[in-house]
Amino acid sequence: MKTKSFVIGLLFAAAVTVSAEPAKITIDASKPGHQVSPTLWGIFFEDINLSADGGIYPELVRNRSFEDADKPESWKLINAADGKCETTISTADYYSKPVAPALNPFNRHSLRVKVDGAASLENEGYWGMNIVKGDSYTFKLAARVTDGFSGPLAVKILSASGQELASGEISGLTGDWKYRTLDLTASDSDPKARLQISASGKGTLFLDMVSLMPKKNWKDHGLRVDLAESIDALKPSFLRYPGGCWVEGDDFAHMYHWKNTIGDIDARTPLFNIWKYWATHGLGYHEYLQMAEDLGAEPLFCINVGMSHKEVTPMSQMGQWVQDALDAIEYANGTADTFWGSLRAKNGHPAPFNLKYMEIGNENGGAPYRERWPLFVKAIKEKYPYVQLVANHWQGGYPRTPTPDIVDEHFYNTPEWFMQNAGHFDNYDRNGPKIFVGEYAVTRNTGKGNLRGAIGEAAFMTGLERNSDVVVMASYAPLFVNMNHREWNPDLINFDSSRWYGLPSYYVQKLFSEHRGDVTLPVTVEAGSVEEKPPTGKIGVGTWNTQAEFKDIKVTAPDSKVLFTSDFSKNSDGWKMLGDGEWKVADGVLRQTAEKEFIRAIAGDKSWTDYTLELKARKLAGSEGFLVLFHINDDEDRVWWNIAGWNNTQHAVELTESLDHKNGSIESGRWYDIRIEVKGTSVKCWLDGKLIHDLKNPSLTTRSLFASATHDDKSGDVIVKVVNASATPTETEINLNGVKNLSGSAQAIVLTSDNPNDENTLDEPTKVSPKTETMKISGVKFTRSFPGNSFTVLRIGAGK
Ligand code: AHR
Repeated sequence: MKTKSFVIGLLFAAAVTVSAEPAKITIDASKPGHQVSPTLWGIFFEDINLSADGGIYPELVRNRSFEDADKPESWKLINAADGKCETTISTADYYSKPVAPALNPFNRHSLRVKVDGAASLENEGYWGMNIVKGDSYTFKLAARVTDGFSGPLAVKILSASGQELASGEISGLTGDWKYRTLDLTASDSDPKARLQISASGKGTLFLDMVSLMPKKNWKDHGLRVDLAESIDALKPSFLRYPGGCWVEGDDFAHMYHWKNTIGDIDARTPLFNIWKYWATHGLGYHEYLQMAEDLGAEPLFCINVGMSHKEVTPMSQMGQWVQDALDAIEYANGTADTFWGSLRAKNGHPAPFNLKYMEIGNENGGAPYRERWPLFVKAIKEKYPYVQLVANHWQGGYPRTPTPDIVDEHFYNTPEWFMQNAGHFDNYDRNGPKIFVGEYAVTRNTGKGNLRGAIGEAAFMTGLERNSDVVVMASYAPLFVNMNHREWNPDLINFDSSRWYGLPSYYVQKLFSEHRGDVTLPVTVEAGSVEEKPPTGKIGVGTWNTQAEFKDIKVTAPDSKVLFTSDFSKNSDGWKMLGDGEWKVADGVLRQTAEKEFIRAIAGDKSWTDYTLELKARKLAGSEGFLVLFHINDDEDRVWWNIAGWNNTQHAVELTESLDHKNGSIESGRWYDIRIEVKGTSVKCWLDGKLIHDLKNPSLTTRSLFASATHDDKSGDVIVKVVNASATPTETEINLNGVKNLSGSAQAIVLTSDNPNDENTLDEPTKVSPKTETMKISGVKFTRSFPGNSFTVLRIGAGK
């Protein structure tokens, strides 16, 4: 309804149409609905962006085991006899001298330094070690000496400017590998300190497993205190781990094997992982289970299904993969007289961890996934019928046989997509599998994670809460980023060596989790504005794992005025190349020859609204067809006609989601005529003169007021969550039907900021964070103005 509509300018949109009707939210407390799923809000910890090493696993030394490379990466040598220190593969030592304390054949490299005079080694950890005045640190190393060298070793913690913060000495080194430790207490603080080990004399020194650990750690289970507290504050009811793509690996050589991550830390096989760094596995399978226990969260282990990003294990070799899953459950839950249960006990946890959820694969789909899923279900349900098995929803579906207990769906998109999809689960089959929204986040048009993104997620989460009879679990992704190694943006919690801050989204997660309530209450939202943004933007061409040529690109306005014509006679001036492409202008065409994903060339003007885009395109090689872009405003925008996508099987128009899929493919070596006409909300696409798509862009209409409500049995409070996604305050009447004992006061916890683009930073960590107000209410009806771009939790004392 848009009576009395008028047009106003907005901070984030050129123009919108807004209804002037007063908004009304009605809650009926006399008709309690379903229980809010007790596991609804949880966390997904993926070892991405140095979340574990360099993050919550507080080892301060980087490359402690010298496994990271053939060179001693992260180590600096000053004054070795031959001017170098080397990593050496010393397997023979381990076999011939088993006295090596727990040094394991999997940990194959050590460091050899030839000393003649004075030499020192330095390590700065992960962009500086956080050393705090008065705190104690355990220094530990394995060492042996030869060729007449006997030490001692001087160990120092130095500030960035070279001031000594702590020191100690290690003496009595021998020809046999031996662990040595020192307790070091800091006399001053520096978040960018470094470790120095010095030797003087003549001979050869071998080092391995050089470690510096803060003695302060979370709950005595070895986690960095501030980061562990940051997730504890979210009160997560489950912990999905350890990935994500991390579980799959780009290939099998770089995938996660839980068995390589348990036991003595020097027996754990480091992994160069998909997110481009070495993981020590100091945070291993056991530690994840421990972390879940310490958080009071249900562990949910995600295991590889026999598929990496690039490979699929033959069906005949799947036995070991299924066995790995069974063994993981036995490790977590088996009694101490089982093989894996006894290892858990030996590793410090005699009682079972009580693992009840296991996800088979991550973002796997298609026939290979459907074939492998039943193998896991059969074996696991036979032995552990109580374990809830989670299947992936990927490539448009999930395996139907056997029916999964839970299906994991992932969503990454714009703020507006999340708003438009607040009702996504309203009509889901209540007799089908339960839903786990295992990964979701606004990832586009949100900077490094701004208020607007958080508002989009909050709108979506009202829908998750309202549908939590079917959506039983949900977790934002990803959780952490070490700001010096950002492989994914945005991330909920940003940190460096000593500080952290949460995105505005962090506070949305926290508020939903802290104010869950026990039972949902029906809510109706009336009016609220409807926004219609006229679409505008540039044009472009692109490819996905394909080589192609483009020419004769022309943009015409509805009045026949030619807005743009391409000229590839000399160069590609006027085009902006995005992604990892190899572009060349030759023979009058624009040629792209890299077979990589998401490669684009953009041209034109952001202000263009309605237009016809025509061009010719020819595929040279690769697995798909062409991307033809329109209405592009941002380098990351994915608004395009995908011609012969999905491995040359389908055409679709991709706006904030892919629409109108049509079967179709294209041939290599043949020129195709392509035409796209955009007018208002309409998009029409022709291939070789044939109309393939004729659709309306649904993403142009955005509801702006969202609400959900629950009842909290303990306090008797009615909890109402309200999201105002419009740019201006919305005066709203709140009606509470069926409530008898209103206390006359309510608490309003409000997350907003002056500008929807506002972000938190290390220097202003709580710029966008919730503020609490007390409100007086009388009767069962009151009016409140919800600020533009705000998320508000109202706790209304209703007695018991
Ligand atoms: O959350 C980041 C990544 O997004 C996860 O690894 C993967 O599952 C998804 O593609």
